[in-house]
Amino acid sequence: MKEIIITNFEGVYEPAEDSWLISRHIPKSEGNVLEIGSGTGIISIHLAQRGHQVTAVDLNPKAVEATKFNAKNNNVKIEVLEGNMFNPVKNRKFDMIVCNPPYLPPSDDYNDPELALAVEGGPSGSEFTIKLLTQAKNYLNPNGSVYMILSSRMKEFEVDWKRKVIKQEKYFFERLNLLHFF
Ligand SMILES: C[S@@+](CC[C@H](N)C(=O)[O-])C[C@H]1O[C@@H](n2cnc3c(N)ncnc32)[C@H](O)[C@@H]1O
Repeated sequence: MKEIIITNFEGVYEPAEDSWLISRHIPKSEGNVLEIGSGTGIISIHLAQRGHQVTAVDLNPKAVEATKFNAKNNNVKIEVLEGNMFNPVKNRKFDMIVCNPPYLPPSDDYNDPELALAVEGGPSGSEFTIKLLTQAKNYLNPNGSVYMILSSRMKEFEVDWKRKVIKQEKYFFERLNLLHFF
């Protein structure tokens, strides 16, 4: 993995264990990539360094600014779009969709609305992930697939995808999994 220099922006999710898990362990593949929820851009930059054509989407305008800044600073070209999940890429298709989603149930710990947007995935923590997986096939080429982080703190759910755990990391408060949905 090449070195990536990330500048953190106020109001933008700072890369953490989940960001590094997906960046370090996503298997090598071909094709164009869509990242939903790019934050500082760490995952998109890593994939662009590998040679993928990358489109990054975030709902938080500060994250869009951060991804653009960090992409330029790391000498990679990334298309960065502001908007809600798949809205900015209507009628487009990708070979891979990646996402380190907001996955926690709501709590009083996150009063800051931008941090809440980055970490809270709906009443059970899983709603954002289920919505993304339910819509993802409309934006994938045949044989396209999805890589996402899932946490043991989310409620378990069923979706119409096969799934494989690529890598699991255990912390004292949760288990993080990098999942391949195919
Ligand atoms: C856990 S952070 C991950 C950030 C970065 N990918 C990383 O791994 O460090 C989730 C990101 O999703 C963005 N987000 C939340 N809801 C979104 C939505 N509906 N559409 C697009 N992005 C969203 C947040 O603004 C935040 O930047």
